[in-house]
Amino acid sequence: METVLRIEHLVKKYGRITAVNDLSLEVPAGTVFGILGPNGSGKTTTLGIILDVINRTGGEYYWFEKKPDKSIRKRIGAILETPIFYPYLTAVQNLKIVAQIKDLPDPDINGVLKKVELYDRRHDRFKTYSLGMKQRLSIASALLCNPDVMILDEPTNGLDPQGIAEIRELIKQIALDGKTIILASHLLDEVQKVCTDFCVLKQGSMIYSGKVEDVSSGVAMVEVRVPSGDIGEVLSGFEGATKVERDIHGYLVTMQPEKSAVDLNKYLFEQGITVSHLLTQKKSLEKQFLELLAESDHA
Ligand SMILES: Nc1ncnc2c1ncn2[C@@H]1O[C@H](COP(=O)(O)OP(=O)(O)OP(=O)(O)O)[C@@H](O)[C@H]1O
Ligand SMILES: [Mg+2]
Repeated sequence: METVLRIEHLVKKYGRITAVNDLSLEVPAGTVFGILGPNGSGKTTTLGIILDVINRTGGEYYWFEKKPDKSIRKRIGAILETPIFYPYLTAVQNLKIVAQIKDLPDPDINGVLKKVELYDRRHDRFKTYSLGMKQRLSIASALLCNPDVMILDEPTNGLDPQGIAEIRELIKQIALDGKTIILASHLLDEVQKVCTDFCVLKQGSMIYSGKVEDVSSGVAMVEVRVPSGDIGEVLSGFEGATKVERDIHGYLVTMQPEKSAVDLNKYLFEQGITVSHLLTQKKSLEKQFLELLAESDHA
């Protein structure tokens, strides 16, 4: 598969602060790639560097396996912060100006407005738009050059639940059109809902990368309760467990990826233990993310 973006040992220092610390990653074509990390972890700085608006301290990056040049910039649509539109002009008028600035010979203004569902409002002034509509117009503006890649930095920031849902749906639609998407977010939920692949940044370093489906489906935890007695030690002897925790009702057993509640039940039965409750939970991405961030402190 074609590699859209390759970053190698990228470093950005602001004085004493290292905003990006030896970051290497690869974005394959056709993915919705999430850069997930808490505030200040270096997401925006990384996007700024690969868009050539922030100078890097070290490292390299390649778009479509080539050193970046002006022609490649035309294949990339980006929204780093809300672009400035003229408040008294309509969506159509604003996009015409964008097309002129970007020197696009044949911009499909109606097409992109339909795509972001602003076509019905295309002759209304920008200042009458809701926040969600303004954000959708930003996306329309980035789509004007029919880019192969879209870069979005926190695309749902500040929107209400409906606005958030609309933007996420739009991102999925754009991905279905065959565009690769790189999305920075501090929201796990967002990454889980829209991305196919992701990496986790912490203080400028990458501490995890993988497929969203692997993380979402991989780890199961089993709640175990018994009518009475302490079975902590017996549970610790179960080879299919990676962790046994006690909670108010009973126990929470984190399973190895290929093990299930059936294996655990069988084991307990063989040990002469009958359970009163056995329930498989999927570990949320959120819990795993928080654990990752905590684990990397000890590394
Ligand atoms: N122009 C600058 N001058 C000095 N330090 C900066 C500058 N821009 C960013 N930083 C620092 O670099 C680090 C990474 O910032 P960055 O904005 O890339 O993080 P982020 O992951 O995008 O955070 P957020 O989720 O809050 O948007 C932070 O410690 C920030 O204070
Ligand atoms: Mg940011």
